[in-house]
Amino acid sequence: MVTHRFDNFAESCCQALACLSIVHSVEDLCRSWSSVSLQQNFADYLLTIMIWIICIFLPYSFHCKDINLYFMTLDLNLWITVACAQRVLISNKLGEKLVGLLHEACSKELVILCHGFRATKDDSILVDLAAALASAGVNAFRFDFAGNGESEGLFQYGNYRKEADDLRSVVSYFSEQKYDIIALVGHSKGGNAVLLYASMYHDVTVIVNISGRFALEEGIEGRLGKNFLQRIKKDGYIDVRNKKGKFEYRVTEESLRDRLSTDTLLSSRSISKGCRGSH
Ligand SMILES: *[C@@H]1O[C@H](CO)[C@@H](O)[C@H](O)[C@H]1NC(C)=O
Repeated sequence: MVTHRFDNFAESCCQALACLSIVHSVEDLCRSWSSVSLQQNFADYLLTIMIWIICIFLPYSFHCKDINLYFMTLDLNLWITVACAQRVLISNKLGEKLVGLLHEACSKELVILCHGFRATKDDSILVDLAAALASAGVNAFRFDFAGNGESEGLFQYGNYRKEADDLRSVVSYFSEQKYDIIALVGHSKGGNAVLLYASMYHDVTVIVNISGRFALEEGIEGRLGKNFLQRIKKDGYIDVRNKKGKFEYRVTEESLRDRLSTDTLLSSRSISKGCRGSH
């Protein structure tokens, strides 16, 4: 890392840029805070301290190491939006508490983000999407499906229908709060959940599938090993272990059956014509 001083022109420019981007996001933050009726004064106070730390204290204490500082402040920028998301608890059909974070913007439009297999709401794709949506003025909600992350319930391998049900509870919750749900976005297994949702309910018009698996009968052997069907029939379950032999998760026969009986093509055909899909 090259160490150079504050009088370096490029350095000063990047400082200025960093400050601007921070100010911008803190301004957004203050607006959303005041919209949830938090004291504007407090937000102003915080804004001053933040700008002071980011634009004066950090550069001085690090002797302005290089362009990395700029990216560091951008990360901070993201961190601020993430840290200020509001925690929301929603009960699913089975009464399990689903934990999610609402990134607030100054509108009633909402996009719901769904994580993939063995991931959580804190998956970087969802965090980045939520921050980008919120700064574009659209509320974003990312949550943990039951059995994942902070949500209650047992982790399951298949469970596609249950995830679509969880999503149903989330959509209902926000519809009751008078949010206008403009899109459902799912990454990987979450992509299947949003598609399945759209095939059953026809109330959200934009569905985004990011890298969802189309043929669910494929890609199982890689995780469960050879002859998984025979083995699971015999024992009723297969425990998946990592390379070091450490237990990772249990796949029950029922959850495997759920996966094998989920037909993406069939459910895609039941999605209403007015719905716009994207992948
Ligand atoms: C979801 O997206 C992936 C690629 O991102 C694609 O392979 C798959 O076919 C899509 N699923 C549907 C039902 O469109």
